[in-house]
Amino acid sequence: MCGIVGYLGAKEKKEILLDGLKELEYRGYDSAGIAVIEGVNLNSFKAVGKLENLVRKAKDFKADSFGVAIGHTRWATHGKPTELNAHPHLGKKSYVVHNGIIENYQELKKELISEGVEFLSQTDTEVIVHLFEKYNSELNEPFEAFKKTIERLDGAYATLLITKDAPDTIFFAKHGSPMLIGFDGDDVYFASSDTAIIGKADKVYYLEDGEYGYAKSGEVKLFNSKGEKSFTTKPLDGDKLSAQKDGYRFFMEKEIYEQSRVIVDTMMGRVLDSEVTLEEVNESFFEGIDSIKICACGTSYHSALATSYLFERMAKIRCDVEIASEFRYKEPLLDKSTLFITISQSGETADTLEALKMAKRAGLKSLTICNVDNSSIVRESDVALLTRAGIEKGVASTKAFATQTMLLWILAIYIAQLRGTLDRETIQKEIEAMRHSPTVLKVTDELHSKIHRLSKRYLHGHGFFFIGRDIFYPLALEGALKLKEISYLHAEGYPAGEMKHGPIALADSNLFTIALMPKTLLYDKIKSNVEELSARDATILAISPEPFDLADDFIQTKQAIHPMLEFFEMMVITQLLALEISIRLGNDVDMPRNLAKSVTVE
Ligand code: M6R
Repeated sequence: MCGIVGYLGAKEKKEILLDGLKELEYRGYDSAGIAVIEGVNLNSFKAVGKLENLVRKAKDFKADSFGVAIGHTRWATHGKPTELNAHPHLGKKSYVVHNGIIENYQELKKELISEGVEFLSQTDTEVIVHLFEKYNSELNEPFEAFKKTIERLDGAYATLLITKDAPDTIFFAKHGSPMLIGFDGDDVYFASSDTAIIGKADKVYYLEDGEYGYAKSGEVKLFNSKGEKSFTTKPLDGDKLSAQKDGYRFFMEKEIYEQSRVIVDTMMGRVLDSEVTLEEVNESFFEGIDSIKICACGTSYHSALATSYLFERMAKIRCDVEIASEFRYKEPLLDKSTLFITISQSGETADTLEALKMAKRAGLKSLTICNVDNSSIVRESDVALLTRAGIEKGVASTKAFATQTMLLWILAIYIAQLRGTLDRETIQKEIEAMRHSPTVLKVTDELHSKIHRLSKRYLHGHGFFFIGRDIFYPLALEGALKLKEISYLHAEGYPAGEMKHGPIALADSNLFTIALMPKTLLYDKIKSNVEELSARDATILAISPEPFDLADDFIQTKQAIHPMLEFFEMMVITQLLALEISIRLGNDVDMPRNLAKSVTVE
C-alpha cells in the first residue's frame, strides 16, 4: 500500500527513484511523484495513474550532482487520486512522502489553517510538511522541528522529508508502516520494501516502530523514545531477475505457472521420507498448547480456513480462524494455551500485524506463515515459517496461497506427529500426497487453452457462485475472490450445503455456478447440491474427476489419492479461469483497480 523510495548521494537521482518505484508500483498505482533537492534547486514531478505517466512527464529531467531525493507511488486513502493529492507534498520549501494514515490529521489541519496555512490537497499527509515548516521557522533547527512534528502525529506512518533548509539531509520516521535504510558506501537509500533497492544498496537496516532520525552525507543518526540508538546493518541480497515476467503476459500468469516449482521449495527439508520436520521451531515450543487460533486477511485467511479442517482432522487440535480486522475489535478471550498463528504473504498487513501484537500482549506464543523475511510480522513473531514462494507481484495472490496452504498442511501433520494422533501409515500417505502436489499444480497447454476457450462464455451474467464443501468451501471463497478482484464481476463463494438456505433464490440461467466436485471428499453430497441448482436452471461449470451430465461446461480433473491433490488442481483451474476472463475483459490483471499488493492501513 503506497511505496516510498529515497536517495542521498551524487548519482543520477531520477533513475534511482523511478527504478525503485517501478518495483513498488504493484503496491499502489493511483498516482506517483518525485522531488529532488540539489543545493538551492528544488524540483518535483507528479502524475496521476501508472508510473509510466510520471516517467513521461519527467523525461527531460536529470539530477546528477550531490543532493537528496524522495519518491512515492500512491494507493489513495484520503482524497481522490489526483495530481494535487499525489505525493510528495510541498510546503514552502520542503517535501514529504508518507505511507500509512495520520489519524489526527483533521485536528492538525484545523490548527494549521487557523494559523493561516493553506492546504492544496485533501490528504492526511500534507499536515506533516506544514507542521514541520511551522516548527522549523520557530526553532530554526530542522531536526528538532522534524522531531516535534512526528511527536504530534497519531496513527501509522513511514515518512521521508527533505527541505531546502538542510539540503544535504533526509529526515525519516517509522511507526506502523514499513521502512528500511540501505547503504552503499556513503550513498544512503530509503524504501518501504527492499525490492526497491536491490542491486543498489549492499547493506540494510529495517527500522523498528518509533524510530526516526536523519541521514546526511556519510552519516545516519537513529533515535527512539530513549534517545540516540546504535544499529547494525544486514547484508542485502536478492535476485531481481526472479521478479521479471519471463515472457508471460502478466505476473499473475507467471506466478500461476510457478506454483508447481515453488511448492517444492516450500517442502524442501520439511517433507522427509517418513516424517515432516520444521527446523525453524523447537518441539518444546508446542508444549502446553491445546488449541490454535489463526488470524489473517483475504487470500491468506482462505488458506487458514482451508487448513483449519486439517488441524482438527489430523492433529485433533481445536483450530479457530478469524479475519484479523474483526478479531482486533471484538475483545477476544485469549488463553495462553492457544498458539496464535498469523498468515501473511507480505508480512506487512496492518490488521494482521495488530492482531499479532494483541495476542502477544495477552502472553500467547506466536507463529507466522509468511513469504517475506524480515517483514514486520516475521520480526514480531516468536517463530516464522517462510513459504519460499519468491516475490509475488500480481496483486491477486496465487503462488503465495498455494505455498501457505502447503506449509500449513505440513504444520498440521507436524503437530499430529507431536501429539501422536496419526499412525505411521497415515503419515506416510500424507507425505506421498504432499510429494505428488507439484504434479497436479503443473499447468498443461491443454488445460490452459480449454479454460481460455471456455472463458468467453463467462463474461456476462448477474453473478458467479463458487461452491464447495469441507476444504473446498474455502477454495470456493478463494476462487470467487480471485475472480472478483481482477474481473470486477460479482462473485461469491458459498458452502454448497448452504445454497438452499437463501442464495438459491438467485438461480437462473444467468447465474454461473462454478462447482468444485472432488471425488475424494463428500462427492455425493455436493452432487446433490449442484443438481438442486441445475433444476433451477443455473448455468453450471463443474470441475471434477467424474463426468457430470447436468453440467453446461465441464473441466475434468485427475482421479486423486488425497483431497489436497484435488484441492491444488482445482485451485489452479479457478486461478486460470479468473485470469482468462479478466484478460478478455481487457483488465490490467496485475494491477486491478482500487487494490494494492500490501495493505498497510487498517
Ligand atoms: O499480505 P497478506 O497475505 O497479509 O495480504 C492479505 C490480503 O490483503 C491479500 O491476500 C488480498 O486479499 C489479495 N489481493 C488476494 O488476492
